[in-house]
Amino acid sequence: MIKVAVIGATGYAGAELVRILAGHPEASLVLITSRQYAGKPFDEIYPAMAGVVDLKCILFDADTVSETADFVFTALPHKVAMGVVPGLLERGAKVIDLSADFRFKDPAIYEQWYQPHESPSLLETATYGLPEINLELIQKSSLIGNPGCYPTSTILPLAPFMKENLIDLDSIIVDSKSGASGAGRSLSLTTHFCEVHEGFRAYKVAAHRHTPEMEEVLSNLAGRNVTITFTPHLVPMSRGMLTTIYADLSGDFSDDVVHDQLVSYYKDKPFVRVLASGRVPDTLHVRGTNYCDIGFQIDKRANRLILISVIDNLVKGASGQAVQNMNIMAGLPETAGLSACPFPV
Ligand SMILES: NC(=O)c1ccc[n+]([C@@H]2O[C@H](COP(=O)([O-])OP(=O)(O)OC[C@H]3O[C@@H](n4cnc5c(N)ncnc54)[C@H](OP(=O)(O)O)[C@@H]3O)[C@@H](O)[C@H]2O)c1
Repeated sequence: MIKVAVIGATGYAGAELVRILAGHPEASLVLITSRQYAGKPFDEIYPAMAGVVDLKCILFDADTVSETADFVFTALPHKVAMGVVPGLLERGAKVIDLSADFRFKDPAIYEQWYQPHESPSLLETATYGLPEINLELIQKSSLIGNPGCYPTSTILPLAPFMKENLIDLDSIIVDSKSGASGAGRSLSLTTHFCEVHEGFRAYKVAAHRHTPEMEEVLSNLAGRNVTITFTPHLVPMSRGMLTTIYADLSGDFSDDVVHDQLVSYYKDKPFVRVLASGRVPDTLHVRGTNYCDIGFQIDKRANRLILISVIDNLVKGASGQAVQNMNIMAGLPETAGLSACPFPV
């Protein structure tokens, strides 16, 4: 059994980590931290965990955490994470960070969209934790920058097309919708029930911080600079994310060409399900799971490819992917703890 700690366990991503790790066959959750709930049993904060998780939250202390656990998940806000992660690495822990602090290779891009980086040298050694494209690097890494939810739902459908000259890389438009848990558990007017329920709105149009993350990874895959247009939306549901991507086709390609490209790219990848042409993904089909379902349609009149992906923002978009990364780093089966059957409805 590997020993695991979750820092920031009472946030939405942290609580989802606790849920997944509680059912993991090869990992034992030994320590969870929180400032606000230090000393409280986890099931007092999340009563659904009664009889399942028997741990109390404690205050973070780098020595205690690294003496107790081999793998540490940091589910903290960006900026807070970069203050905690270097101390854990120095003490020999392997770290999977869910914030944006270790996702970028170029510190200048991080600093342009976030804030000054306190440990820019760690960006060189950190690995972008998208297992479907970085498996071998993740196996050897001690620090994972776990991808953002919007980038996961955008990069996975686009990755098979970044090198094959099937689409015009200068024509990519990404339109995403996220459930409200994507904004975290902290109280805020924008996710207040009356502000979200029965409404549907775009936000941070052409200005969302996940844009440079997507562009850095897509550019690396393409071997050239890729600029995208990205519009996120908030939908009145608690979890789930649907992303629709439009790109001009470079030629008169058939459905079979697009389908074969997706299927061959993901043939050995347990968490990507490619749907047959004309079938549309639904967030309900991946709720609570680590799957990313990808569907597509060719708009023949406009000669444009439309890709649609769905993930659960808290699972493949955050904590499930983080556990997938831990499995790979620890030499465990990639699917360990992540193979629960989806809800049929
Ligand atoms: N929600 C998602 O769908 C999602 C998806 C992908 C990535 N992420 C990333 O995962 C990380 C956690 O996100 P979340 O949605 O779980 O956020 P959240 O619900 O707001 O939780 C934040 C957690 O960090 C702890 N914390 C410690 N120091 C803090 C500080 N100085 N300020 C605020 N909180 C502090 C909080 O607990 P205490 O206050 O008790 O210490 C809490 O447990 C973020 O970096 C986020 O970008 C989230």
